[in-house]
Amino acid sequence: MANVAVIGAQWGDEGKGKIVDWLAERADMVVRFQGGHNAGHTLVVGENVYKLSLLPSGIVRGTPSVIGNGVVLDPWALKAEIERLAEQGVHASPETLRVADNCPLILPIHRDLDGLREDASGAGKIGTTRRGIGPAYEDKVGRRAIRVCDLAHLDDLGSQLDRLCAHHDALRAGFGEPPVDRERLLADLREIAAFVLPFAKPVWRDLNEARTGGKRILFEGAQGVLLDIDHGTYPFVTSSNTIAGAAAGGSGLGPSGVGFVLGIAKAYTTRVGSGPFPTELEDETGQRLGERGHEFGTVTGRKRRCGWFDSVLVRQSAAVGGITGIALTKIDVLDGFDEVKICVGYKLGDETLDYYPTHAADQAKVVPVYETMEGWQESTAGARSWADLPAQAIKYIRRIEELIRCPVALVSTSPEREDTILVRDPFAD
Ligand code: GDP
Ligand code: IMO
Ligand code: MG
Repeated sequence: MANVAVIGAQWGDEGKGKIVDWLAERADMVVRFQGGHNAGHTLVVGENVYKLSLLPSGIVRGTPSVIGNGVVLDPWALKAEIERLAEQGVHASPETLRVADNCPLILPIHRDLDGLREDASGAGKIGTTRRGIGPAYEDKVGRRAIRVCDLAHLDDLGSQLDRLCAHHDALRAGFGEPPVDRERLLADLREIAAFVLPFAKPVWRDLNEARTGGKRILFEGAQGVLLDIDHGTYPFVTSSNTIAGAAAGGSGLGPSGVGFVLGIAKAYTTRVGSGPFPTELEDETGQRLGERGHEFGTVTGRKRRCGWFDSVLVRQSAAVGGITGIALTKIDVLDGFDEVKICVGYKLGDETLDYYPTHAADQAKVVPVYETMEGWQESTAGARSWADLPAQAIKYIRRIEELIRCPVALVSTSPEREDTILVRDPFAD
């Protein structure tokens, strides 16, 4: 019996939340393993729309959910999200939600620093979500972080807090900001500790127990491979590994526990924030994709940049991300186009490339080489079986499979949970 890891195969917002929610029906546990509340995962169930940032998407179905140690946790954002979902009738209790006690915290000083840096970067800014993600990961790797387990020992923080504040005071001084208000930070932590601690556990134990008990674990990635700190379009990336390998380290289950890796890819491409984007369309077609796909960020409300499907990038994501099969989403957005294009290679000067070069300057310079296919006028929206798809849409999907060298396991045809075509069951592998 396989576990399944869902990861984004592009620049995020591929529809991971919808697919995780769909798969969660058959999972015993859903686990977030990286990122934080920079993620925005949308689930549509009948009339209800759920927007999740930090909570694993399984929570909506009541599937036991875990926030693993690879996540950076803003405890105030956690509380706000739990309260917001409770108003929609979704209840996260210590029975249904567990948070790794070795999870590093995002503090207000991280959010401050994220904003200060972005504001000071002018045209070179990354376009982060300003949630403090990068600075919190820096403090984790710098061994200065305050973690969930520390919330039970706030009176003993002493030298740990000294080191953290000394580091931030120096950075803040560089921006002309006052030093960290230590007493305020401690008071805020004391207040939030009572809320967070009932959820805190050594979750690696639960996960290993579930695994040996033959339970199905579903890992929910955030962002996408092209935003991965190592393999993405550096420096225009997020500060964590978004590839499937991160599911093992970010949860406390070994690599053999990860199983089938389902990469989620849109039938076209979007990106929010700065950075290179070879197939970006700044014309009417790009606008049409954005309008038909409702391409506005879930977290920040920013307009997403849009372009044609880039098979070079997704093939690369499949390779470095360890992807076994793809869920192709938003095929319905391409309905009604006379022709659709797929990027099949790049020109860099006189050279033709079948991969994305590593240097940012080259990444910005490549010119896509397109293959043009006939579009389809019939609607794919709401299709629930392969037989419901027009022949030309099937041709498009088959061509993508060929180009990315990876089979399509699922096709999504609308935001709604059930509008999903199963081609190959990830759990059965
Ligand atoms: P995530 O971050 O990967 O979970 O993706 P987001 O939720 O940020 O963005 C995906 C958006 O597309 C959401 O608004 C979904 O409701 C919507 N969506 C997901 N799958 C489909 C689909 O097959 N067709 C259409 N039209 N919309 C979809
Ligand atoms: P989901 O899980 C799309 C982008 C930001 C920015 C860069 C760094 O919904 O797919 P950060 O705040 O992480 O330091 O920002 O990464 N980014 C996302 N883009 N979807 C996301 O998450 C993203 N999370 C971060 O826009 O370019
Ligand atoms: Mg999103």
